[in-house]
Amino acid sequence: MARTHPSGVTRVGIIGTGVIGGGWALHFLRHGMTVKCWDPSPDAEQKLRERGEAVWPILERLGLAETASLDNLIFTETLAEAVADAEFVQENVPERLPIKISSLAAIDAAAPADTVIASSTSGYLMSEMDIECQHPDRLMVAHPFNPPYLMPLVEVVSSPKTEPAAHDWAMDFYRVTGKQPLKLTKEVPGFVADRLMEAVWRESLHMIDNDMATVEEIDLAIRYGPGLRWALMGPLTVLHLGGGEGGMAHLIHQFGPSLEADWTFLKAPELTDELANKVIDGCDRLTDGAPIKKLEAERDDLLIKLIDMLDASDLWHVGNPAAKK
Ligand SMILES: NC(=O)c1ccc[n+]([C@@H]2O[C@H](COP(=O)([O-])OP(=O)(O)OC[C@H]3O[C@@H](n4cnc5c(N)ncnc54)[C@H](O)[C@@H]3O)[C@@H](O)[C@H]2O)c1
Repeated sequence: MARTHPSGVTRVGIIGTGVIGGGWALHFLRHGMTVKCWDPSPDAEQKLRERGEAVWPILERLGLAETASLDNLIFTETLAEAVADAEFVQENVPERLPIKISSLAAIDAAAPADTVIASSTSGYLMSEMDIECQHPDRLMVAHPFNPPYLMPLVEVVSSPKTEPAAHDWAMDFYRVTGKQPLKLTKEVPGFVADRLMEAVWRESLHMIDNDMATVEEIDLAIRYGPGLRWALMGPLTVLHLGGGEGGMAHLIHQFGPSLEADWTFLKAPELTDELANKVIDGCDRLTDGAPIKKLEAERDDLLIKLIDMLDASDLWHVGNPAAKK
């Protein structure tokens, strides 16, 4: 079977339908595709159907394709059935290397020869995961952000074995479904965004571990401070403006030497039970024990409003004007 044109895809296979796989399934359903899913958990189908009912109003607000329907969601008995006639497959199994290796090998063996297969992994390299695949030339990482049906970014990372045409096909396919794919041809663990998020996560853990700041203080500091600007522009543009009329050149000159100061801890602290409990209890206190489903619905509502508002501005699209709707 020849590779379908990126704008003509109607059949997608989803392996693993948890937080991310389920989110991808809803994204592709919104775009009118038939989505065949496989997940070994006995309650996976019921959970995703319930989530679909809850999220559908959000997808309606985003705009549904003519053929979009939750009736196009199909759960199969086996992994092979889910991918046998798929024109694209997104793998979303748990973040454990042996499970990634065996799942990708099984998908590769069962999917049509030209079908592009993408992994949602948050940090593994495709060259570590494709070692049992017969056709690694059509495999790549496509790292999404939660929830995949709302967050635009997907980091599309090829391995040295990925065929450039397959990488380009995936870039076009994600664009067709309204994503902002970032093409990376160098395999870097954690890719771009997770490396940056991990730095903030690591420093947060150090501050909690050393009683320098609480969960509440860290979240307040980012929410009312840098996070507000990060929603508008990237961290480097923020710094560029922080240099005043002299821009980044002045900023580097003024603040560069302070980077040598001992502000960050750099290495991850040991995740002891005590530290883990401090973080978990702090999050429960901070959110007043609100159910995750309620927080998710409020997050989705705000994200749509924010994206709509930002999309209308040139500033949000600086360096990427083609993305403006
Ligand atoms: N949660 C996030 O914010 C996030 C963001 C980006 C990427 N990811 C990546 O997405 C992938 C899935 O993460 P998640 O957060 O959705 O996890 P999750 O635990 O919510 O879902 C994993 C799903 O995989 C199923 N599963 C277990 N073993 C399986 C197998 N052998 N074959 C197929 N399915 C199997 C489970 O039943 C479950 O439904 C991971 O690679 C993760 O790194 C997660």
